[in-house]
Amino acid sequence: MTYKNLLLEQPEPGIYLLTVNRPQALNALNAATLAELALAIAGIAADTAARVLLVTGAGDKAFVAGADISEMVECSADQAQAFSEKGMQVMHALEALPMPVIALVHGYALGGGCELALACDWIIASDRAVFGQPEVNLGIPPGFGGTQRLTRLVGRARALELITTARQVKAAEALAIGLVTQVVPVAELRDAGMTTARTIAAKGPDAVRLAKQAVHRGQDMSLANGCAYETAAFALAFATTDQREGMQAFLEKRAAKFNGH
Ligand code: CAA
Repeated sequence: MTYKNLLLEQPEPGIYLLTVNRPQALNALNAATLAELALAIAGIAADTAARVLLVTGAGDKAFVAGADISEMVECSADQAQAFSEKGMQVMHALEALPMPVIALVHGYALGGGCELALACDWIIASDRAVFGQPEVNLGIPPGFGGTQRLTRLVGRARALELITTARQVKAAEALAIGLVTQVVPVAELRDAGMTTARTIAAKGPDAVRLAKQAVHRGQDMSLANGCAYETAAFALAFATTDQREGMQAFLEKRAAKFNGH
């Protein structure tokens, strides 16, 4: 399928690279782009051979500079509600993908762009990345999940400080506060993403999927319920041939050949 505002590629088997592609507007998320994102994410979700998704932005300046301000300026409250709901659905769908999703942020990730990165499982940043929730500068609060996901990731005090001041965070600080997991020179960002993606793609696919599910579901549960969920995931893995293969390969001192079953 061809998209107007996205590029969807498979640089290697099992590895998807999704690029928001409106560099003339710093990849701002307008309604059309959100609709395309929903379609692309649904397609990736349906591909049982997909192992990892990398998400990035086109051009050298921005990952995504936010929701499209020119589309929001005249919105009524009802229209804003619908726009936020659409953005939320896209972020939820991205987060709910069964495989790990990694944001590769080379430049600005502001507002809805920061929220898109936060809906990924983790963020690898370039040394030129800039994060922020600048919505209060526009007279609005975040609307695609920033108040919730940023808070869960960096804690309430830091999230509130960043959201209420609209302060921008550069890569080094983003690493220090746990907003990103890794910072690399901008020229090495894609390679860093691909290296991580290849590492994950070589593991047992069911094991990776079950682990992701347990981490995500457990976040909304008590510790006891989360641990019970993990036990169920652990047991389920023993119904796969990949569990036998992984353990047998260890005992035979050879590399495992996983087949996803
Ligand atoms: N929406 C629409 N257009 C945008 C945009 C956005 N969020 N961000 C940038 N653009 C457009 C600019 O209007 C400009 O278009 P023209 O060339 O047609 O004038 C083009 O992209 C290039 O941008 P700048 O000239 O502003 O580039 P710069 O290098 O001077 O500044 C920037 C870069 C600091 C990122 C600046 O563009 C900026 O502050 N952008 C807006 C950031 C923002 O406020 N994001 C939050 C949006 S609200 C939101 O996201 C709500 C939510 O939670 C859902």
